[in-house]
Amino acid sequence: MQVKGRVLSVASECVPFVKTGGLADVVGALPAALAPFGWQMRVMLPGYRALRHRAANWAEVWYEGNLWGGEGRVLSGNIDGLDLMILDAPHLYDREGGPYGAHSGPGGDFWDNPQRFASLSWVAAKIARHGAGDGWKPDVLHGHDWHAGFAPAYLAYGGKAGVGSVMTIHNIAFQGWVGAGQLDDLRLPPEQFYPGALEYYGNLSSLKAGLVTCDRITAVSPTYAADLVRQESGLGLEGVIRARSSIVSGILNGVDTDIWSPEHEPIPYSAADMRGKAINRANLCAEFNVDVPGPLAIVVSRMTDQKGIDLLPQVMPEFIANGGGVIILGSGDAQLERQMHDLAWNFPGRVGLRVGYDEPMSHRLFAGADAVLVPSRFEPCGLTQMYGLRYGTLPVVSAVGGLADTVITANPAALSAGVATGITFHPTDVPAFAIALRQLTALYADKPMWAKVQQRAMAQDVSWTASAAKYVALYEGLRG
Ligand code: ADP
Ligand code: GLC
Repeated sequence: MQVKGRVLSVASECVPFVKTGGLADVVGALPAALAPFGWQMRVMLPGYRALRHRAANWAEVWYEGNLWGGEGRVLSGNIDGLDLMILDAPHLYDREGGPYGAHSGPGGDFWDNPQRFASLSWVAAKIARHGAGDGWKPDVLHGHDWHAGFAPAYLAYGGKAGVGSVMTIHNIAFQGWVGAGQLDDLRLPPEQFYPGALEYYGNLSSLKAGLVTCDRITAVSPTYAADLVRQESGLGLEGVIRARSSIVSGILNGVDTDIWSPEHEPIPYSAADMRGKAINRANLCAEFNVDVPGPLAIVVSRMTDQKGIDLLPQVMPEFIANGGGVIILGSGDAQLERQMHDLAWNFPGRVGLRVGYDEPMSHRLFAGADAVLVPSRFEPCGLTQMYGLRYGTLPVVSAVGGLADTVITANPAALSAGVATGITFHPTDVPAFAIALRQLTALYADKPMWAKVQQRAMAQDVSWTASAAKYVALYEGLRG
């Protein structure tokens, strides 16, 4: 197919190579979603230890002599259809641990994260401006979250050479704070250090740097985009979003419908034939040694304050007394993990728990369960509620951000109109969540209605098609 345009996507995570959350899914899925529109995307990633080995024989398309204490090479290649540019700079990335630190607990971050991600951004901006050594030159530079925030800034301050830039906010809670004393070291122009540009409450923020210098800002759902102008969602950056509101839009994430499809599970099922789901449910109950007469719910989540997991111990006793049960898969905050252990200990046979990260298990959970719980305090988009829709595993979600944009609550009006796809509640607290679970139990007991809502949920289009078209329109608007 004729190439209509090229985008350099700059990110810290990308499925299937490195993932701590949904950012990786989105970065990994976008290139294939854009391809049918004739837009070619290359993903530029840090050369983490595992990645650099895979790129060892790739063509070198950029050399940078001075990257904060060492040299860097960009290696370009393709894995499983994904065009990648790996920044190989061993002094920055060839380390034990995760993408951001030796461990994910408090104090686990690498001390030189500002320089590690500034390096990625520095080289990305140069490639955008001059083109890579193999002649590939992007029309648009697309940065994701704080890790890539300096990329549009370096591009803008060093000369844009006709290249447009986009910043996507996946989670504004992570802002890339850096002390003001590092302004010079990070190769940022001192005259830009004022509140209308780089200064962020006396310091620097790589995310803010990106937001004030890029040509377009997107958030990962329309509701999140609208929310970001308010203090409680903007988390300090609301003024920046307001000032740039004319270039802000919300584009909903999609899900990879090849990976997330009940038809592709070991025991497959579909909206037309749900028998496989019952078998998956029985197997899941056996795997976790639970026996649940009412709705079997799941939670698949990072365990952090954002996700509202701490509400579970308070709402579960009543839900369980009414026949329900829950299986929890997740890891993160040590205190939350302890709370979940207590919950499982207190309700043997009704609560299953696996602390850890386990992709195959997450598939078994969606294939077997009746409902997925997502009680987030805020949720820029959220992917698991969309997996739930696809699998007829009805989402029970707080009505915030992308959760509000993707689930239609089963109130009487929606039920009689036949448009309900799950249950939403607001605000994110124990009373509202408890009411939602009562609704879930009642809906589950009404088998014909439950089946109808499942059918409607499974018929939702959660693919990338519509959103990819929106990104393409955005990129096209930046050309010329
Ligand atoms: P966030 O990015 O804020 O964590 P999302 O819902 O956008 O939230 O994305 C989370 C992604 O990580 C989903 O693909 C989800 O299935 C996956 N995930 C989260 N925790 C686990 C886990 N413990 N095991 C397997 N997959 C997980
Ligand atoms: C962030 C958000 C999540 C979103 C994901 C992908 O991790 O927390 O809501 O789905 O990014 O955009």
